Amino acid sequence: MIDQATIDRIVDAANIVDVVSDYVTLRRSGASFKGLCPFHDDKTPSFYVNPARGICKCFSCGKGGNAVHFIMEMEQLRYYEALKFLAKKYGIEVKEKELTNEERLSQSNRESMFAVNEWASHYFHDTMMDDADARAVGLAYFRSRQFRDDIIEKFRLGYSPDSWDAMSKAAVKAGYKPEFLTRTGLSIQRDNGDLLDKYRGRVIFPWFNVSGKVVAFGGRKLDSRTKGVEQKYINSPESDVFHKSNELYGIFQAKKQIAKDDLVYMVEGYTDVISMHQCGIENVVANSGTALNEAQIRLLHRFTQNITLLYDGDEAGIHAALRGTDMLLAEGMNVKVLLLPDGDDPDSFAQKHNAQEFRTYVEQHQTDFILFKVNLLMEQAGRDPLKRSQLVTGILDSIKVIPDEILRTSYLHECAEIMHMDEQMLTRNCVKMRREYIDAKKVERERERQRQLHEQERKAQQEREMPAELLPDAASQQVTPPSGDDALEGLSATDAPPDTDENASSSFAQPVTGPSSVDIHGVTSPYLRLERMIMTLVVRYGERAITFTNQEGQSEEKPVARYVADELAIDQLTFHHPLYVRMLQEAVGHIADEGFVCSRHFAASPDFDISREATDLLSDRYQLSRGQQMPSEEELLGEYISRLMLDYKFLIVNDELKSLKKQLADPAVMGDVGKQTEVMQQFVRLSGVARALAKYVGERIYQK
Ligand code: CTP
Ligand code: MN
Repeated sequence: MIDQATIDRIVDAANIVDVVSDYVTLRRSGASFKGLCPFHDDKTPSFYVNPARGICKCFSCGKGGNAVHFIMEMEQLRYYEALKFLAKKYGIEVKEKELTNEERLSQSNRESMFAVNEWASHYFHDTMMDDADARAVGLAYFRSRQFRDDIIEKFRLGYSPDSWDAMSKAAVKAGYKPEFLTRTGLSIQRDNGDLLDKYRGRVIFPWFNVSGKVVAFGGRKLDSRTKGVEQKYINSPESDVFHKSNELYGIFQAKKQIAKDDLVYMVEGYTDVISMHQCGIENVVANSGTALNEAQIRLLHRFTQNITLLYDGDEAGIHAALRGTDMLLAEGMNVKVLLLPDGDDPDSFAQKHNAQEFRTYVEQHQTDFILFKVNLLMEQAGRDPLKRSQLVTGILDSIKVIPDEILRTSYLHECAEIMHMDEQMLTRNCVKMRREYIDAKKVERERERQRQLHEQERKAQQEREMPAELLPDAASQQVTPPSGDDALEGLSATDAPPDTDENASSSFAQPVTGPSSVDIHGVTSPYLRLERMIMTLVVRYGERAITFTNQEGQSEEKPVARYVADELAIDQLTFHHPLYVRMLQEAVGHIADEGFVCSRHFAASPDFDISREATDLLSDRYQLSRGQQMPSEEELLGEYISRLMLDYKFLIVNDELKSLKKQLADPAVMGDVGKQTEVMQQFVRLSGVARALAKYVGERIYQK
């Protein structure tokens, strides 16, 4: 466990802009920054980072939080792991007691797999650098390919000794469990339980994910042995920590430069990436011989919109350039293609040229992908009319997916010219094909929506089966944690029609835009809207003192959180939303602590429900006084919060009265004198409260 003081230091040190920038290229937008959301398929920047509040949030998928939550989500880490991750980044020492056996066991599988991968990458590397035999084979191999030591270091290249089980034995000795050695694919377990080294006798290329964790290995046979039946490369199998189609080799070492140059080079192999780095070009990643897929494109798109595909000039290279490229266009990337001189791949080309020459060559020889494809297909089609019509379809197939209309139009214009075809005819066909494409996409999206709805329904059903949790009394209990990856959750909040419940809108507070769908974590209530407004102030300003007039007509001062809690207590009310009950209790419980700040406390809460909600409430989107720039909600805090409390109580009392009225008309109550009297008494009492409240709230609601 990490002590609170250290946690505070980490949270304070973790600059949100800095943390997020490791994963997303951010651009300034007023007082905030924005970029493409790393958590969903974002085509226009929906991800906002607010440095003043230390939070980030996607206004489309709803994910976000403070730096710790961002790292939790991004790295799929748990709270304390994320803290440690940030501590490392900011050089903050975390004193921790040794893990007990039990704690070690409870480390998640993923963490254990990352740990053993990390260890193994160092084992392979250190062995190659320090062991005489390994140097003679592994290091000698890389040297023969002219790889410099600094580059070997940078990519942590290594060598797995030519022994059946040297690595496995060392791993077990270092305390790693065989289970994780086999799960990561580092070892193979024989029937008798013995572990064998999967990459024995191979040089090792570790794969780092975007944040620098080792997720996989590629093991290459040494040159002398690539002939014959054996595979040149063995790669890690798919696992909990490695989905080949989501990863790009070199992304960790490249991401800063990609963002800086606003451009990424795409190559095929490990050695291409490494040689290019060695010649000074760092904005390069490899897709490792497979066609690009959406997840990889999205990963890149977070850093840049511009991609240049570098391929060998041979048949295979050209073929590769055509594969998966439409997907890049559909994601809104600007795609260029460069075929290297025949006989060269990026590896050999980089070995022969310096960075300047390399870049100049690329600039002079790259072609826009669409035009590249046109020229290529034209060559293939020749004068054959059938092939020429296929050519048109082939080109339009690529153009139709481009999201930007202006870009589509200009391509159509250019293609018409090159192919000597009627531009209008091309345009008509393209429009038709795009419509079909969009329709197909819609069907696909609808199917996905249905799936998500189904999922939501299933969750709602689960919650209905736990009614106790929805009752205010059960407030201190844990609310079912939201799954967190439900993209619809955020969307439904924004897409929902504005709440038209007149009662709920105060004369003072403008209607809240975003959270009007008052369905928070499955809890629905007409009161939640006001509760949310009140909690917004508590989360933002809970510790600040406000001055108000108490029931005796005297002026009194209290922190906002305590004021709200006391106001509720006076009338024996509790919030309807269990989460808010919990949060308010927490705020009041800490309010006397030295230096306590509600916003910081809640946004950094290890309880995900709380921090998520707090982030929402802290986001500007939920500005209470929408459109009222001056005076700000801060300046009018006292008046604001007391108004909200009155509105809230008034709403509840009024509803209560309505329900009592109904009860009085109920034959069952009318027939039971005792019950009738009881209801009557309550009615009278509440009417008095309502009248008193109405004096403050004004005539506007109480009239009817
Ligand atoms: N690849 C792979 N498995 C294979 C062959 C290739 O994973 N059996 C991937 C590797 O990422 C490799 C890339 O495809 O880097 C390109 O393949 P290739 O050009 O054959 O390998 P290079 O890395 O260029 O190897 P070398 O230059 O040493 O021949
Ligand atoms: Mn090669």
